Amino acid sequence: MTTSPENSPVIPFVGGDFLDADYQQICQLLKEQQGVDLTGYKDLCIKRRIASRIRAAGLPGPQPYYALLLDDPQEQQQLLEALTVHVSQFFRNPTTYDLLERQVLPELLERARAGKAKLRIWSVGCATGEEPYSLAMLCRKLLKAGDLFSIIATDLSAEVLQRAKRGLFAPSRLAEVSETALTNYFTAEGKDYRLADEIRNQVRFFQHDILSDQPFYRADLILCRNVLIYFSRLQQQRVLRTLAAALPVGGYLVLGRAETLVPACRDLFRCIDSAERVYQRLETNGDPLPVRGAAAEQ
Ligand SMILES: C[S@@+](CC[C@H](N)C(=O)[O-])C[C@H]1O[C@@H](n2cnc3c(N)ncnc32)[C@H](O)[C@@H]1O
Repeated sequence: MTTSPENSPVIPFVGGDFLDADYQQICQLLKEQQGVDLTGYKDLCIKRRIASRIRAAGLPGPQPYYALLLDDPQEQQQLLEALTVHVSQFFRNPTTYDLLERQVLPELLERARAGKAKLRIWSVGCATGEEPYSLAMLCRKLLKAGDLFSIIATDLSAEVLQRAKRGLFAPSRLAEVSETALTNYFTAEGKDYRLADEIRNQVRFFQHDILSDQPFYRADLILCRNVLIYFSRLQQQRVLRTLAAALPVGGYLVLGRAETLVPACRDLFRCIDSAERVYQRLETNGDPLPVRGAAAEQ
């Protein structure tokens, strides 16, 4: 706790203290200077994280912090890191990818082979592309001659999609990449690493808002990790219903490790692994799901 010049204690600033105008001013600055759009995120969650940066900077509230942000691009970066809204990593939470490699993908590939169909994967909220590219590397490991697969990756932010397509990554994003994958698929370029075209070409990126009702993609496996945390319970429910409608019965959904199914959606999925947050689409009893989230490329 800091003290005022008169030595009376100053109560540390917390997320709930934000005035709307102050909050909007900081959001606007991040949008204009960093291309990060916080629309759609749970306000309180973002406010708490900004408040913690305000306290870390030893400031009493959002006005002087806004002045600091205007002046200091490094603080803008630190705030973005604290918000973690676009932060991703190749093979983030490696045990989840282990489960995908051991169980989920082989089963889906078998099913696709049996039906002479294409395996379809959708990464929702893909940020800068590490997640769908990791999936592309896994698929290459598991594919047999004649197998077909397609990976679609979507995000609300046009800016992160641009970065994803560029395929250039800081070393910090590669911490979980195996030696073999590093040798096979990355080339050092200045301080960063360039991802090989053979992996980049496997992923198609689209701008799409998962909160919208626009039909999008039907997939056998959907990853929607570290996206729901920013949404209200009602929004989470809506998104989960959209994703359920995009999956066939027996299709898989993977959430982030800090995310769970809201109770209202538990009848749509069976939990396959509670630690890895892997779920399988169930048949619904006479309760037709909305068709949104399903369509596009058949
Ligand atoms: C923390 S990143 C998650 C990246 C990756 N899924 C992972 O777990 O490493 C969250 C991403 O969700 C995206 N996002 C937020 N709201 C969204 C929405 N309504 N529709 C689609 N993407 C959204 C953000 O732009 C951000 O890139």
